[in-house]
Amino acid sequence: MQILDGKSLALKIEETLKEEVQLLNKKQITPGLAVILVGDDPASQSYVNMKAKACKRTGIYSTTHEMPKSITQDSLLQTINMLNQNPNIDGILVQLPLPQHINTTTILEAIAPHKDVDGFHPFNVGRISANLEGFTPATPMGVITLLQAYDINLKGKNVVIVGTSNIVGKPLGALFLNHKSTITLCHIYTNNLIEHTKNADILCVAVGKPNLITKEMVKEGAIVVDIGINRLENGKIIGDVDFNNVAPICSFITPVPGGVGPMTIASLLQNTIKATKIRANL
Ligand code: GUN
Repeated sequence: MQILDGKSLALKIEETLKEEVQLLNKKQITPGLAVILVGDDPASQSYVNMKAKACKRTGIYSTTHEMPKSITQDSLLQTINMLNQNPNIDGILVQLPLPQHINTTTILEAIAPHKDVDGFHPFNVGRISANLEGFTPATPMGVITLLQAYDINLKGKNVVIVGTSNIVGKPLGALFLNHKSTITLCHIYTNNLIEHTKNADILCVAVGKPNLITKEMVKEGAIVVDIGINRLENGKIIGDVDFNNVAPICSFITPVPGGVGPMTIASLLQNTIKATKIRANL
């Protein structure tokens, strides 16, 4: 069994990006990312902090717009419009989830598609689904980058994805399909989940339920990608896979933490620099 070490790969990617930013700086260009955080959800605050710190390490200018939970949809839209117009901002990211009274689709659709570094605007969702150039959501992009870094061939593989959110499961399915994998998407209404997971050459899990995937559900020699992030009462972070029992039967497996999480951040930085290059016609 080999660990898919997202932490060290993300660091390597950051080093490369740092050099790219320095080259851009020589041309008087600084990449800029604006992050919007609504409310005081501790998990969202922690993700936004990690994103801001990663920007700093890489030399990307970043601003965080913190807004109270009671903010109106119109004020939020005004901020997005302002950022759409701001020439120093290449990427705009609205941390999800948003409060109930705000229509997430309306907000995501307000972001200029060429600044949509999260790839959540329907324009980019469509581009990626059609296997065209566009912004790819950071977590699915990080998963593919991680597998490719370990020379794992995706063509013809049976890929089973458990969890079909718009930000992870569905776009991940689209990416694997673009790489000619055979995909199965499973969700809460899937009958006999084990029948599907047992068949997976590559099993990806993004549900948010500790120990959802047990050893009985995994084929010997499978590659397991754990995208779950669950904080236990004792503060420990674990994924959706029963790592201790599943790892021995895998060929490759991602740890949590240190697997997909750092790759998500690295992918966001990559997307931001891609947006900068588009802006600068490079
Ligand atoms: N909430 C959970 N994951 C993400 C993400 O990748 N981007 C944003 N904007 N919000 C999230």
